[in-house]
Amino acid sequence: MSLEAIRYAPGRLEVLDQLLLPRQSVYIPVRDTDDGWRVINTMQVRGAPAIAIVGCLSLAVELSRAKFASVDELLAHVRGRLQHLVTSRPTAVNLQTAARALAAAAERAAEATTDVDQLRDSVVTEAEQMLSADVADNRAIGEHGADHLLRTAAGPLALLTHCNTGSLATAGYGTALGVIRSVHSRGRLARAFCTETRPYMQGSRLTAYELVHEQIPATLVCDSAVAALMRDGRVHAVVVGADRVAANGDTANKIGTYQLAVVAAHHSVPFYVAAPSTSIDLGLASGAEIPIEERPAAELLCVAGHRLAADGIAAWNPAFDVTPSNLITGGIITEKGVLPAADVGRVADL
Ligand code: MRU
Repeated sequence: MSLEAIRYAPGRLEVLDQLLLPRQSVYIPVRDTDDGWRVINTMQVRGAPAIAIVGCLSLAVELSRAKFASVDELLAHVRGRLQHLVTSRPTAVNLQTAARALAAAAERAAEATTDVDQLRDSVVTEAEQMLSADVADNRAIGEHGADHLLRTAAGPLALLTHCNTGSLATAGYGTALGVIRSVHSRGRLARAFCTETRPYMQGSRLTAYELVHEQIPATLVCDSAVAALMRDGRVHAVVVGADRVAANGDTANKIGTYQLAVVAAHHSVPFYVAAPSTSIDLGLASGAEIPIEERPAAELLCVAGHRLAADGIAAWNPAFDVTPSNLITGGIITEKGVLPAADVGRVADL
């Protein structure tokens, strides 16, 4: 069985505390939207799709306990809580997209009923559907990605990925890691390489853990080893996830993705982004408009709570960077199919 970042039953939500992995597997309860905001902001749950689902489900569990005097009061509560949730982390667009969809569903349902319980049930059902839709989308991303990569492959593929985009970052299966899983399940994966992903170590703590758990042949490299790895011809393609893709294909993803794309272009290694269409923000013309989250300096200066950096040094700790569309040479793999990065605006036509 795959790892589960999110456990949900009606009225009950738990997330696997990713700050403790891989040493301890501890599920923590999320009882309301304040808990939801906190587990997202502290990165106990992380990864663009997982953030969106946990945010919306935290509202669902809160609603299952709360009492409202009228449909208008419930609607105002839903709007207010969603506005608060989207402030938890700014770069990934998925929570904003999901919050907009949930608010719109609530408005539609409110037009059709004056029954508070019925409205509450509609909002809860809408949030619950996000969980199952995400797994289906990720499986489709995996299949499209594997079809595309294997179309021209002469032999087994060695794929390099960055950060964590697997079951722990989503409702299940994963995006870029989903592509690696699909290639592996077809018996065509030579090896996955994953980077450590400094400073939060999503690669060594989370992706490595998932790859071992799934019994996928895999090797961990430090972030600065990727140029040597590609120079030696040991990587056939790079596949990463996305936190937000702008209309021109520029893509924000975990810090270090941009330099990986520069190195891949230098060595003529195809570079792919794998992401659900909910990560595409057609409202932003280019990556220059994507807000980049800066995390606390302590997350860079310390590792697992132990200070490594010299006292007195200043730190710059951006959590994401933007890879320009022209460096995404392989294309963008979505649940609807694979597109050249510059054509990502056509995703709805697929
Ligand atoms: O800071 P994180 O761990 O939330 O960053 C995660 C990433 O950058 C992932 O690559 C991205 O969210 C895609 S997850 C399917």
